[in-house]
Amino acid sequence: MSVHDLLINLRSIRVFEDRPVVEDVLGKLLDAAANAPSGGNIQPLSVVVVRDAGRRAKLAEVVGGQPWVANAPVDLVFCLDFHAVQRWAETEGVTFRGRESLSSFLIAYADVMCAAQSVVVLAEDLGLGSVYVGTIQVQLKDARRLLELPGGVLPVMLLAVGYPASRPKNIPKLSAGDIRHDERYRVRSDEEVAEMFRGKYGVIGDDLDAYFERAYVEVVEADRQQEESWTAEARARMERLNIRNNAQFLFELRYPQDVMVGFNRELVRDLEEAGFRFLREQEEGGDVGRGGTEGGD
Ligand SMILES: Cc1cc2nc3c(=O)[nH]c(=O)nc-3n(C[C@H](O)[C@H](O)[C@H](O)COP(=O)(O)O)c2cc1C
Repeated sequence: MSVHDLLINLRSIRVFEDRPVVEDVLGKLLDAAANAPSGGNIQPLSVVVVRDAGRRAKLAEVVGGQPWVANAPVDLVFCLDFHAVQRWAETEGVTFRGRESLSSFLIAYADVMCAAQSVVVLAEDLGLGSVYVGTIQVQLKDARRLLELPGGVLPVMLLAVGYPASRPKNIPKLSAGDIRHDERYRVRSDEEVAEMFRGKYGVIGDDLDAYFERAYVEVVEADRQQEESWTAEARARMERLNIRNNAQFLFELRYPQDVMVGFNRELVRDLEEAGFRFLREQEEGGDVGRGGTEGGD
């Protein structure tokens, strides 16, 4: 298969065969991560490999009960790792202040995702499948505790990996034309924007099963592997919230905006607990984050 075909057909896989990912294959995936691009080639990256069934079950709980995290044979937790970089700098007698630098943080965050995406693509090429689980970023404290991450190490993305037992078929996407701007950004009219997303999602219509298959495949696939019915719950919430269009569905039902904004305070606190303090130093005139490598635990 050409790389183009592979990428166009790449889908998130949430149902896995009961088949292990052998060490040799896992080693190749991690090779891909270790050879990914990295800003300044600093590579502030660690990957925690979780194979143990009990720990996978705990991780699944941490990320909100997503069954594929427990059911995939292996979970890879991609971490932004300033702990190792800072210790290295210190042993060389150099100050590294990555935990205080938003710029370093953003670049490192991008590094981690470049590495993760290399793994996604190689996994697909090797006949495996995978799904990102981003909610690990919201449950920072529990994830850090479970994985025993020291200060300066943040779980950025969980990737559940295994051999696909089911592949979603109707995932809607914007087109290349929709995301393209030539030379400069062209602000679209309201109608153009509406048309763009209508083209992607279609209308909700009466057949909610068909709608969920394309717009909420997570609940459909969760129902295939657990007793609890997420689809039934989603249907009830559609009714209760009187959801009539795709934007409402996304921003009132799936990601209620007050809830999303409400995460801020706890997230900033969790980041600080992990040793990331971007404004504190300037505000307090202190030297937060410098010195001990374990600071922030
Ligand atoms: C940043 C990010 C976070 C994601 N988090 C989750 C998640 O928590 N649970 C999940 O089942 N899928 C998650 N996904 C997968 C998306 O749901 C999926 O990419 C999207 O529905 C498009 O489907 P496709 O990957 O099959 O094209 C995430 C993907 C990304 C890029």
